[in-house]
Amino acid sequence: MTLKRELNKIIIIDFGSQFTQLIARRIRELGVFSEIISHKKINSKDIDKTIKGIILSGGPLNVYEIKKYSFDKKIIEKGLPVLGICFGHQILSKLNGGKVKQSKHREFGLANIYKKKDSLLIKKFFNNKNVNKVWMSHADQVSRLPSNFSVIASSSNSKFAIVENRKKNFYGVQFHPEVTHTKNGKKLIKNFIFLICKIKKNWSSKDQKIKLIKDIRDQVGSNKVICALSGGVDSSVVAQLLNKAIGKKLYCIFVNTGMLRKGEEKQVVTTFKQKLKINLIYINAEKEFISKLKNVSDPEKKRKIIGNLFIKIFERYAKKIKNVKFLAQGTLYPDLIESKSVTGSQTSKIKSHHNVGGLPKKMKLTLVEPLKFLFKDEVRKLGLELKLSKDIISRHPFPGPGLAIRMPGIINKEKINILKEADYYFIQALKDHGLYHKIWQAYAALLPVKTVGVMGDNRTYEYLCLLRAITSEDGMTADFYEFKKSFIQMISNKIVNSIRGINRVVYDITSKPPSTIELE
Ligand code: XMP
Repeated sequence: MTLKRELNKIIIIDFGSQFTQLIARRIRELGVFSEIISHKKINSKDIDKTIKGIILSGGPLNVYEIKKYSFDKKIIEKGLPVLGICFGHQILSKLNGGKVKQSKHREFGLANIYKKKDSLLIKKFFNNKNVNKVWMSHADQVSRLPSNFSVIASSSNSKFAIVENRKKNFYGVQFHPEVTHTKNGKKLIKNFIFLICKIKKNWSSKDQKIKLIKDIRDQVGSNKVICALSGGVDSSVVAQLLNKAIGKKLYCIFVNTGMLRKGEEKQVVTTFKQKLKINLIYINAEKEFISKLKNVSDPEKKRKIIGNLFIKIFERYAKKIKNVKFLAQGTLYPDLIESKSVTGSQTSKIKSHHNVGGLPKKMKLTLVEPLKFLFKDEVRKLGLELKLSKDIISRHPFPGPGLAIRMPGIINKEKINILKEADYYFIQALKDHGLYHKIWQAYAALLPVKTVGVMGDNRTYEYLCLLRAITSEDGMTADFYEFKKSFIQMISNKIVNSIRGINRVVYDITSKPPSTIELE
């Protein structure tokens, strides 16, 4: 059990939902401290007076399997307010004598729910016609409500869409108030934490910074730490946090994989060594990376090779520095949730982010990942709090495996050089036209297809360049950016006319989901 004892908090008991961290995030946005803990790792003895309310998350389980997963029922008998979300709502009903069964119609996506009676939980939640749009994602549902519970709202499919036992302060919602698709979802969470749990605001970017610095000190003690610095927002924020936490015991390592954006290595060395005065070791491992990736075209293999080589290099340098026990990196929550489960509960894998699933099974260094529960925009706020320059903080994300995953198929020096140029022209044009900061992430990719073109009077047979530019809040979902025709035409001409090796440009108009942001 790892709950921190010092702050009043709301605890979120995780049953393996993809959205659990979103619940925590909404509570942080409301200015309140919260902690997530797996249902397998908490028991009623852990409930102390700093805990002001409990949220039971959703999850892929069936309530009748719960015995297998051991949940201490006494946790909800401690007199604290409880809000059950989706699976959490079902387990709360079941534990109070209700019944759950598979619904006739599975409900996924938006549904209308209709208010039946008033409750503190739904203050300002419904519109003036007493209807609200919510996001459902469930196969089971409560089929018999426990006694002393009443219905606050229903949908055509879920009679018990919102329920309460006012005396016990138990609330259940069948939908997901934590996702942005649920209208006024954050208001419902706000009502629960402030009106029902009566917790006071106690959390800000500054508090977050202080806590993270303290957690780093607690974890690493007086040991030396190396930090994998890429110069992107996340690793820069991690480096600055560690710099504040342990100063000279921090050694940042910047690895030039040969697959960075044009000019990246010079820019990072200047910023960190000269401007921020951070201990920085520059390693040129270009040849090693390119030779290890020779003839590899499978995306997961590429990611694993890159992840493994990164670690090998870090371990090699850790040995040289001597007595290094820890490796710090800027893993974020979306990297983790798409690679594996976070709290020990059950979730499914989308791809191996190089700094997560791409890591070797056996590692000599222990990981320090202070940002692993945060989303990108929260990291940016933290960066400002740490006084990092706006230039660093507002940079578009760049994946650890770099251009390797923006070049489907095999990788070689010729392709890398072509891609670096295309990406440079694209990003420069976005900056020149005042578009860079309107876009969450943009890049050029080189597809493993050659097509025929005509330039001057000659036939060309060259690569296809794909441009991607997306808007997003946190990288979990994304939409393509709608450029004006004049811009997209200008950049297409510029790339084709200036770069030998590309004779055609396409623009990617898929959202995430169903696509991902990167190509591999
Ligand atoms: P996807 O492609 O999964 O990308 O939709 C979501 C965000 O994560 C970045 N990304 C990575 N970042 N290591 C990283 O540090 C990785 O292996 C990795 N793969 C994807 C991607 O650029 C986007 O911002």
